[in-house]
Amino acid sequence: MKDCKQFVLVIFGASGDLTARKLIPALFSLYKRDFMPKNFAILGASRSNYSDDDFREKVVFSNTSLLSKEHTQAQLDEFASKIYYEPTDTKSDEAFTEFKERLEKLNTDCDGGGNYLFYLSTPPSLYEVISQRLNKQGLSDDSQGWRRLIVEKPFGYDLATAKALNKKLLSYFKEYQIYRIDHYLGKETVQNLLVTRFANSIYEPLWNRNYIERVEITSAESLGVGSRGGYYDGSGALRDMVQNHLLQLVALTAMEPPVAANADAIRNEKLKVFQSMRTYAPEEVASHVIRGQYTSSVINGEKVTPYRDIEGVAENSKTETYVALKFFIDNWRWADVPFYVRSGKMLPTKVTEIVIHFKKSPHHIFSRDEEVQSSNNQLIIRIQPNEGMLLKVGMKVPGEGFRVKNINMDFHYEELADAYVPEAYERLLLDCIQGDATLYARGDAVEAAWDFIDPILNAWKNDDSIPVFGYPAGTWGPSNADEMIDGAQTWRYPCKNLTNDGDYCEL
Ligand code: BG6
Repeated sequence: MKDCKQFVLVIFGASGDLTARKLIPALFSLYKRDFMPKNFAILGASRSNYSDDDFREKVVFSNTSLLSKEHTQAQLDEFASKIYYEPTDTKSDEAFTEFKERLEKLNTDCDGGGNYLFYLSTPPSLYEVISQRLNKQGLSDDSQGWRRLIVEKPFGYDLATAKALNKKLLSYFKEYQIYRIDHYLGKETVQNLLVTRFANSIYEPLWNRNYIERVEITSAESLGVGSRGGYYDGSGALRDMVQNHLLQLVALTAMEPPVAANADAIRNEKLKVFQSMRTYAPEEVASHVIRGQYTSSVINGEKVTPYRDIEGVAENSKTETYVALKFFIDNWRWADVPFYVRSGKMLPTKVTEIVIHFKKSPHHIFSRDEEVQSSNNQLIIRIQPNEGMLLKVGMKVPGEGFRVKNINMDFHYEELADAYVPEAYERLLLDCIQGDATLYARGDAVEAAWDFIDPILNAWKNDDSIPVFGYPAGTWGPSNADEMIDGAQTWRYPCKNLTNDGDYCEL
């Protein structure tokens, strides 16, 4: 474990859902596992008028997300005693002066060493004003202790707003102080992509255009937008999932080997991937990017509300709840290899996986059987659920002749019985406390990812003829998305369990 110095963590937007559901439970796990230093304090700040005790009750003693973790009463009591609350109207200068006084007092009382971590768990419209006020109060000055700022997505709404946000943040904090959180990078299986690729010598020689026919990334969700209609209708699947989470998966899949496993080396290589992604001309968008929106249907006897009837969604909304893209990475390794990425709400199951489709063997000596010939080797990296890896290979069917059958070679994380798998926020918070930004998005990479996304958004905005296909909730999205795949191929249609395919598929 790296040195973890004493500190005070401030959560702005502390009365919100993320604090109780993810942040405090993650901090509690770190505390229980002895990853927290002896001296630390958590200071919640938001407009709600809680006392310290009210806030402790809300985020610890009555917090089901925290209580569902194994604990003793003594652990709860001690952890809660490290939590405080200061009502703060982020729009008022005066309130910030009081906030600063409280923070400094807390720092003295708990011996926080002047190390402050500010977590912006607020609507994005407040990112600028909070960082500006922190700066004005001298709280971004790291000469007397470290000062870090965690920013939640969305990082901008398009390229222009992302650039403007970065510029503002950088006028109050330095890039090395800013931690842009993407919870996909905190997933154990996503980090394992780096280990799979760069700690084994068998994959790397094959990991290029000579052996790989196409790369496919799916992130499906079986739920709809729930109560987030207002937010989601202004966002859509492309902004909500692709610009951040899925492009991060693309970068880790496609990047060159970094020279070392540190923040600069890894993030430099990821940036190059974003910079090499071929942007679409306006007339290419309709055929290379398929968008869809779920309509009503009946799933397990229950009627599903169509997207447009959800509260907060415009009745003639064209916001996509599904998107599938085909694109190319213009560099030496990936020239001409198509990448297919899709994400959607209200699909048959919740699953995220990366499928590497290897090219066929060049000469078929064993079989003329179409099925065997066309089922190429595949490496499936399952991010969630049923986390693991699956390699599909041809095997001889025992008996006469040389009949070839495709079989599965699989590994499941659950087989590592003793391994504790931390939740994404747990890992990411700990990294930030320890000053390691490797698993956080860097400003230039966020902008480069928007550079790729912007032409799609512009084409959708400017060209009304680009359709939004309806798909019944519970199906795999518009069938047009199958047609975008080259040759007589389709997407892999994954099941809940990694290895279930073919005859039996549990959703
Ligand atoms: C969030 C999106 O960033 O990621 C949500 O805003 C989405 O719409 C969620 O549901 C998916 O995360 P996970 O970890 O459940 O795949």
